[in-house]
Amino acid sequence: MLIRIPKDWALPESAVTPERDYHLRPRPVSPRREFLKTLGYGAAGLAGTSLLPGNVFATTAGFPTRVNPDFRDPALVPTSYDYITSYNNFYEFGTGKADPKPNANKGWKTEPWTVEITGLIRNPVKIDANDLVMKMGGAEQRVYRFRCVEAWSMVIPWDGFPLSKLIAFADPKPEAKYVTFTTFLDPKSAPGQRGGALEWPYFEGLRLDEANHDLSFIATGIYGKPIPNQNGAPLRLVVPWKYGFKYGKSIVKIDFVAREPRNTWKMMASHEYGFYANVNPTVDHPRWSQASERVIGAGGVLGQRQRTLMFNGYEKQVAGLYTGMDLRKFY
Ligand code: MTE
Repeated sequence: MLIRIPKDWALPESAVTPERDYHLRPRPVSPRREFLKTLGYGAAGLAGTSLLPGNVFATTAGFPTRVNPDFRDPALVPTSYDYITSYNNFYEFGTGKADPKPNANKGWKTEPWTVEITGLIRNPVKIDANDLVMKMGGAEQRVYRFRCVEAWSMVIPWDGFPLSKLIAFADPKPEAKYVTFTTFLDPKSAPGQRGGALEWPYFEGLRLDEANHDLSFIATGIYGKPIPNQNGAPLRLVVPWKYGFKYGKSIVKIDFVAREPRNTWKMMASHEYGFYANVNPTVDHPRWSQASERVIGAGGVLGQRQRTLMFNGYEKQVAGLYTGMDLRKFY
C-alpha cells in the first residue's frame, strides 16, 4: 500500500470534536435516499452522531438498526464520526486519505444499486441493495476494532447484517469453498479508475468458513446513519480480525467459487500482501513493523501508539479457523 506520511493528513479541526450521543425515535422503513434527505445528510446531517444505546432504535440506510449487545465491548472507545468518514482509503477516488470524501460525493450515485449473488449456489439472484437489507431482516449495530495494514487503527460502530445470513440465503452448493467480493467499476464517476494505481475493479475474497464466521458483516451504515460514499456505500465487507484492505467497498457482485480467488493487493504486490491478511503483530510488513499501531483521533493528529493485538483482539473467536496453519506463510 502506498504509505504517505503526515503531509497527507488534512483533517479539519472539527474532526477532533468529541461525540455527542443522541437518540433517534423508531422510524418506519423508508428508501435510503428519503432518509438522507430527512437528515440533510452531507451537510448539516454530519453534526449529529449517535452510538446507539441498547434497545433504542434508529435508522440506517432507511432501516431501523439496533445495538447488538454481544458486539458492544464497553472497553472500546469509538473513533469520532468525522475521522471515520474523512480519513479513508478508497483508491477509486484518489490515493490521499482526504481524497475520497470530496471525490466520492461529486455526483457518484450509490442508489439505486444492484448486487449480483452468483456462482456455486442454489439461489442466484440480482437484487436491489435496499431489498437485500430487507431480506436479511434489517440492520443491527456492532462496534468493532478496525486495523489497517498501514499500522493505524480506529473503532467503528457499523450498522448492517451478518454475512452468514446472506450465505444462508444464497444456499451454497457443497463445491463452494470461497466467496469473492467484486466492487464497482465506473471510471466516469471514479477518477482513480481512469488511472493505473490499481487493477480495476477492486476485489477481495474469503474462505467460506471465514465468511460464515459470526463476526463477518456487511455494513450498510456507520453510527446509525447510512454509510457514506467514501466508506463504501451502499454495501461493504467488514471482517474485523483482518487488515482493512480485505473490506471491499461498494460491492456489486458476490460470487461463490471452488478455488482460492486472487485479491487486488496480493495481485499488486504478493510479497507484501497475502490472501489471509489476518492482523498479526509478529509478522511485519516488509517495509514496516506491525507490532504497534497509531490510534486515529487519540492524543494528537496522528494518534497515540498502542500494541497491535493478535487477530486484532478477536483471537479467542477466530484462532480456530487457522489451526495447523503456519501464519507466517499464510499471511
Ligand atoms: N475497497 C475499494 N473498492 N477500494 C479501495 O481502495 N481500500 C481498502 C478497503 N476497501 C479499498 C477498499 C483499504 S486499503 C482499507 S484500509 C479500507 O477499505 C479503508 O476503509 P475506510 O476508508 O472506510 O476506513
